[in-house]
Amino acid sequence: MSRLIIDGMKRLRGETAVQGSKNSALPILAATLLSGEESILHNCPDLSDVSGSVNILRYLGCSVSFSDGTLVCDSRNLCRTNIPNSLMREMRSSIIFLGALLARTGNAGMCFPGGCEIGPRPIDLHLKALSELGAEIKDDHGVFKCTAPNGLHGANISLSFPSVGATENIMICASLAEGTTVITNAAREPEICDLADYLNSSGAKISGAGEGTIIIEGVEKLHGTRHSIIPDRIVAATLLSCCASTGGRIKLNRTIPSHLRAVLSIFEECGCDVDIQGSSIIMDSPHRLTAPKIVRTMPYPGFPTDAQAPIMAMIAKSRGTTLFVENIFENRYLHVSGLLQMGANIKVEGRVAVSQGVECMHGAEVAAMDLRGAAALITAGLGAEGKTTVDGLKYLDRGYEDIEVTLSTLGGDVRRV
Ligand code: UD1
Repeated sequence: MSRLIIDGMKRLRGETAVQGSKNSALPILAATLLSGEESILHNCPDLSDVSGSVNILRYLGCSVSFSDGTLVCDSRNLCRTNIPNSLMREMRSSIIFLGALLARTGNAGMCFPGGCEIGPRPIDLHLKALSELGAEIKDDHGVFKCTAPNGLHGANISLSFPSVGATENIMICASLAEGTTVITNAAREPEICDLADYLNSSGAKISGAGEGTIIIEGVEKLHGTRHSIIPDRIVAATLLSCCASTGGRIKLNRTIPSHLRAVLSIFEECGCDVDIQGSSIIMDSPHRLTAPKIVRTMPYPGFPTDAQAPIMAMIAKSRGTTLFVENIFENRYLHVSGLLQMGANIKVEGRVAVSQGVECMHGAEVAAMDLRGAAALITAGLGAEGKTTVDGLKYLDRGYEDIEVTLSTLGGDVRRV
């Protein structure tokens, strides 16, 4: 079992490039099933969640190769339509294979998906939407058997919440359905646009991605394509948090700054100097941050729930008080106990947390309990006095590619042992 050892209080300096987006790569990997041809994906991050998706694709009969950030998936020889429980339970986004398998074969069998324990993560919106597209779904004690006896057809689907995963499942499934599908109250995250770009480049007809209404005109067939995954905005937010936690100055290359607007405005409120030059973000942070008044997580373009944990770690030793309101997931403060061990002053009540900045944090032996919580503990460790040991790296490795190498390049003292 590996752990990270961080010797804190080293100012981060220098420049680095941001990895490809996990949350774009995962639905696009599921969507490679649709064409029955070869998809070539560039800038694909090397993560355990990507390996989980590749294992599912291979189990289903696809041939997949992955090296130097380029993943090639040939879905010609798809030969199965069920996914074993062990593969489904590795991550939440395995549910996107439901829409993809249905669209390609009219059949799919799988259990409830896994993922981080950040609150109840129902799939009712996915199942309701796929039924509206013509799927018949039988729930046999948590194992779903889906068929489309009369084929899949377009529908007007109104989401009660702009769920990212449900929007992706609908886009994928409706791409090969007969007729037009209109999604209202669709998720507007950049990863939705990236999925639409991938599908359109393989022959789908999707318009409106990135807006509240998405229109998908079903086509008979998709074809192989080449696509480059967008940069990971949450990894960018994490690296900036690490920098600000140490009073550092870094340049992040290969970013899409417009995807980070809500996050960058929090850094500015904290007193950081943010300069955007094309696809690079240069951030200079003060010795001690000013606490932002309120951080309220919202669907995009609001402040992302995935950046809440690293930002909370970064401002733990700022000057002032911050109110956090978590509006997306119910149990997203799992990192707080580790931050308290390191000297933070944070109180949690349901979906609200209040952080009262402390003068300094100190190293401790802490354990991650979810993916972004792991990033938060690293952020705090970098800005703490003394040695921090972070366990629970299986969560970190789901979403961050060699983050200890990146941080070391920037001058942090971070080792995996
Ligand atoms: C995706 C991201 C995750 C991010 C989240 C919100 C991926 C792989 N993961 O997760 O990193 O934190 O978006 O930006 O892209 N909900 C229901 N019923 C459903 C579906 C969702 O009630 O059928 C609820 C969820 O419990 C949650 C909220 O809707 O409270 C948001 O979930 P959703 O947008 O679907 O997130 P994911 O797609 O799971």
